[in-house]
Amino acid sequence: MGLFQSKGKIYKPVAEINLRAESDEPYTHANVKAPRVAGFLVKIFAWILESWILGPAVLHILKKDNLVHKLVSFAEIPESPMFTATHTIEDLQEQEVTCIDPNLSPPERVKEAMDCLPASLENTLESGFKRWTIQDFSRAYNSGETTPFKVAKRFLAALKDSSVPHLQMSFFINYDAKEILKQATESSLRYEKGTPISVLDGVLVAVKDEIDCLPYPTTGGTKWLHKARPCTDDAVCVKKLRSCGAILVGKTNMHELGAGTSGINPHYGPARNPYNINRVSGGSSSGSAASVCAGLCPVALGVDGGGSVRMPAALCGVVGFKPTTGRFPSSGVLPLNWTVGMAGILAGTVEDVLIIYAAIANDISEFQPKSLLPELNIPQLKSSHLLTDIKFAKYGKWFNDSSADIKSCCDDALQLLSKRYGWKTVDVTIPEIEEMRLAHYVTIGSECTTSLAPQLEKINYGELGWDVRVALQVYGSFSSREYLNAQRIRNRQMQFHKEIFRRADVIVTPTTGVTAYPLQRDAFSTGELDYINGAALIRFSIAGNFLGLPAVTVLAGYDTEGMPIGLQFIGKPWSEATLLHLAFAIQAMFIHSYRKPEVFYDLLKTE
Ligand SMILES: *[C@@H]1O[C@H](CO)[C@@H](O)[C@H](O)[C@H]1NC(C)=O
Ligand SMILES: *[C@@H]1O[C@H](CO)[C@@H](O)[C@H](O)[C@H]1NC(C)=O
Repeated sequence: MGLFQSKGKIYKPVAEINLRAESDEPYTHANVKAPRVAGFLVKIFAWILESWILGPAVLHILKKDNLVHKLVSFAEIPESPMFTATHTIEDLQEQEVTCIDPNLSPPERVKEAMDCLPASLENTLESGFKRWTIQDFSRAYNSGETTPFKVAKRFLAALKDSSVPHLQMSFFINYDAKEILKQATESSLRYEKGTPISVLDGVLVAVKDEIDCLPYPTTGGTKWLHKARPCTDDAVCVKKLRSCGAILVGKTNMHELGAGTSGINPHYGPARNPYNINRVSGGSSSGSAASVCAGLCPVALGVDGGGSVRMPAALCGVVGFKPTTGRFPSSGVLPLNWTVGMAGILAGTVEDVLIIYAAIANDISEFQPKSLLPELNIPQLKSSHLLTDIKFAKYGKWFNDSSADIKSCCDDALQLLSKRYGWKTVDVTIPEIEEMRLAHYVTIGSECTTSLAPQLEKINYGELGWDVRVALQVYGSFSSREYLNAQRIRNRQMQFHKEIFRRADVIVTPTTGVTAYPLQRDAFSTGELDYINGAALIRFSIAGNFLGLPAVTVLAGYDTEGMPIGLQFIGKPWSEATLLHLAFAIQAMFIHSYRKPEVFYDLLKTE
């Protein structure tokens, strides 16, 4: 081996590691050694990696240079592997919550959630920009000001407008006008008769094309997956929203197979950022984030395997929420990976996240043993300001590993919170952040190639995007030793995080290390390999997936170029209610300065 052998890191036992602020644990900056590559070079790179002779050598060099060898493959780790991120039930004694009976039907749950909302902001917003909420739509339908049918028509007109040559927003992969109008007609009839099913009746909801939703195929952003895996039913989470009367408007664009963070899809077009159409929207739930941002629907479903809901939400300035592993039913969500991915919610406001969360969470159908789920607590957003003694854990070196604008914006938000509510920040050290990122990468990669192996063996590689071909070669290169070492790192991180959560209620970070960066034309047909921006985007997302923790991102300001900045809270297992309270407090501080995106459709406009 000699020349090619890397020395592995020797990890100290967890008990010997100091998590206090003054700890001398090093903070490793993502050591990404790879220039941005797009166009023809991506093709060459894919060919090399796929070659039987050159491929293995190049992969070896890549893993060595990017510290996979040192920190994962050849590391000596005292802990045993922890294979999943499931959590036992705990009674958190959360403040200001209502407990919902999980035996209630989705419309009944939605009703309970409505009772937790504060009086609407309708007339209190003299200035600023506001996205219409679920309540706004419901009010307009009930008052007869408009109908679901008219709104659906406007939606279709907006989608058409967004596809003109100079925009090409690429919000959706699939939608069917006839199908949408059919649902809208039925909903309008219910309002006519005075019998809407719930506040969600007639509200438009979009679904990431990784979640089953009839009558559409589930492409996963590919040109082939739906042929190998037909969609035969709604995913359980979609069923629940349908049963509340929501209008499912189609399948949103995504990074192919979720295997990237830019949202540039060579088959269905790059999902553009409504705040600046020459910037990325982030991935992989790119179309869901961009659609909500542009006002096409108040909420959308996404899937979060490595920040895939939170990153695009942050880049598009909307709320992104992923609950604790196991909180949402997984049936009907593509199993691209098993232990890190799950459905999440994107919405214009925290109130709307809460309504959708109440409808979907704690599914007690045949799939989910009841005994595995804790109480379903819903935050009384009316009284978020009453929460006392909240403690934020902040790891300064990590928090600061973001662009100057993001750092100062998120810092200001945190200070404002503590000034206004008396909530405290505790400085901590969260060790081995970069180690965790690489271990997660090994895990998601191994799970993705394994779950897709039967299909990948049959398909013609020509049907895959070039950047995904590169990703699949890297994903498929991991050995059992690398996979198992990654799970040992998961065990360590679980212990570190448990200890941090003894000292604080939530961990606070920026959501991403960079804001939406420019879309470059040379990437449109091949995708791009931009691991530097990729690592910065994903930097703060990993614990949510690898450790199954709940997390939320909410808009906290804009950078000097007007691109949105997200602030993230990562919570203890099952602490969704507290997270939504905190997100709501941030929203209340900044909603008056929200800006209107360059591309925005006002579906409730009165003419
Ligand atoms: C993993 O799966 C989740 C959802 O299941 C998805 O959002 C994510 O992009 C997937 N990632 C990879 C690398 O397969
Ligand atoms: C983070 O940045 C702030 C402001 O730039 C600085 O005051 C602080 O000392 C930095 N913290 C760490 C741990 O580097």
